Formats: sequence, C-alpha cells, structure tokens
Amino acid sequence: MARVALVTGGTRGIGEAISRGLKEAGFTVAATYGGNDEAANKFKEETGIHVFKWDVGDFDACKAGIAKVEADLGPVDVLVNNAGITRDGTLHRMTPENWRAVISTNLDSLFNMTRNVIEGMRDRNYGRIISISSINGQKGQFGQANYSAAKAGVFGFTKAVAQESAAKGITVNAIAPGYIGTEMVRAVPEEVLNTKILPLIPVGRLGEPEEIARCVVFLAGEDAGFITGATLTANGGQYMA
Ligand code: CAA
Repeated sequence: MARVALVTGGTRGIGEAISRGLKEAGFTVAATYGGNDEAANKFKEETGIHVFKWDVGDFDACKAGIAKVEADLGPVDVLVNNAGITRDGTLHRMTPENWRAVISTNLDSLFNMTRNVIEGMRDRNYGRIISISSINGQKGQFGQANYSAAKAGVFGFTKAVAQESAAKGITVNAIAPGYIGTEMVRAVPEEVLNTKILPLIPVGRLGEPEEIARCVVFLAGEDAGFITGATLTANGGQYMA
C-alpha cells in the first residue's frame, strides 16, 4: 500500500509542486490549505489529490484535520510542514498582529501538526518529517524580523525532534530554499527584487518550485533513513551556511 504524505499549504506555490512530486513518486497525498478555495478546487481537479481546509496555526483544528485525513486515507507516514506566509515590514513599523500571524502560521504550525502525527509514527516505528524553512531563517532578511525568527525556529525544532525520534525510525529534516519564483516572491516590490535580491544569487535566477519538491521527495524516501536533523539548502549559492 502506498504511504500517505500530508503537505500543509499543499495546493499553491512550493507546496503545490511538493504535492505533485510526492504523488508522482507513488505516495497517497493529502494537501491542506488555509483559505483560497478557488485555487484548491482547481488544484484538486487538475491533480486528483485530496484537499483539506484548516488553519495550521490552530492546534485543535490540526488535531481534527489529521484525524479526518487518517480516517479517509490511512496513517500519515510523511509530514511536510510547508504552509507559510509573509507580512514583511521593518521592525520599527511592525504591528503585533503581523508578528503573531507569521509566528503562528510558520512556526506554531510545526508543533500543532507534528505533535498530532508523532505518536502514531512512534507506534509504527516509521516516519518522515520535513519542514520548509528559508534562507532568511539562516541569514536574516531586511524587512522580515517575524519571518526570519519563525524560519530560524524551524531549525531548532528539527534538531530537537530528530534526536527524540531517531531510535523510532523517524527522520526529521529541514529544507532551506532561497528565492523561488512563486507568488510570495513576486509580491516583493520589483525594484527591491531586481536591485537587492537577484544580483545576490550566483546562479543568476530564481529557483523553481520543482527544485524544492525534488529535495522533499528525496528526504521522504525510505532509503533516506540515515539523514536526520539535517538542513538541505537549495538557494542558487546565495548563502552558504
Ligand atoms: N537591504 C538594505 N537596505 C534595504 C533593503 C535591503 N534588503 N531593502 C530596502 N532597503 C532600504 C531601501 O533602500 C531604503 O533606503 P533609503 O531610504 O535610503 O532609500 C529603505 O531601506 C526603506 O526601503 P523601502 O522604501 O522599500 O521601505 P518600505 O518600508 O516601503 O519597505 C520592505 C520595506 C517591506 C522591507 C521592502 O523593502 C521589502 O518588501 N523588502 C523585501 C523583503 C524580502 O526580501 N522578503 C522576502 C519575501 S519572499 C520570502 O520570504 C520567501 C523566502 O523564504 C525567501
């Protein structure tokens, strides 16, 4: 039987490519989304992938949502914590709402999701947890105190849970993408992108969502069992951690 992979924020952007990549690799995929019904329906029609709607910042919603996924499709063996948002702005102008929203969706979600699959994975002695961090969690980014803090938190979470889970056949890894050509990056003011970001990418282009999806598929494989607590960086050489 195909293993079940759950991808948060799996209907758009990098998450969409991850869902498609995992399906192609033979997984039964469940993709969650937070609000954009139109995009989720289009994705579902195009791919046949199961979609589920809930707020990954809400613990009880994650608990109930994961129970539904498992009732419909079977136990979750692969969790991809991908859902993320930006609320960019310099700290001296940042509102508490824009701080909290980013921490909730990008970091609280790791606890909310992983906590609700980890007991099952431990019982079954198998699991793959892959969290999408960011280059900006490694190096910090002007205008992203909230996002950089959340994405840096992903690394600490990953390393702690990797240690706790290693003896149970569960690997826990992070991926740190650079600037990938998605809606999120296209929302950066064009002038900022052209003058402050693109010139810093040695390969001379934005990344493709599929380039991150291939990293996920690799780490999700049964044959990746010796890799845990690691960060796989894919940023076109922009930052070498
Ligand atoms: N480094 C240094 N200085 C910078 C800078 C940077 N990266 N970006 C802007 N500045 C400077 C500007 O040149 C400007 O200086 P002057 O006043 O001397 O001209 C000053 O800071 C103010 O800049 P803005 O007019 O742009 O200020 P703003 O308040 O309107 O906007 C901002 C600030 C919201 C941070 C905007 O610059 C911005 O959106 N920057 C991009 C942030 C970014 O990279 N976000 C990543 C989104 S994609 C993502 O997050 C995915 C991922 O994981 C990679």
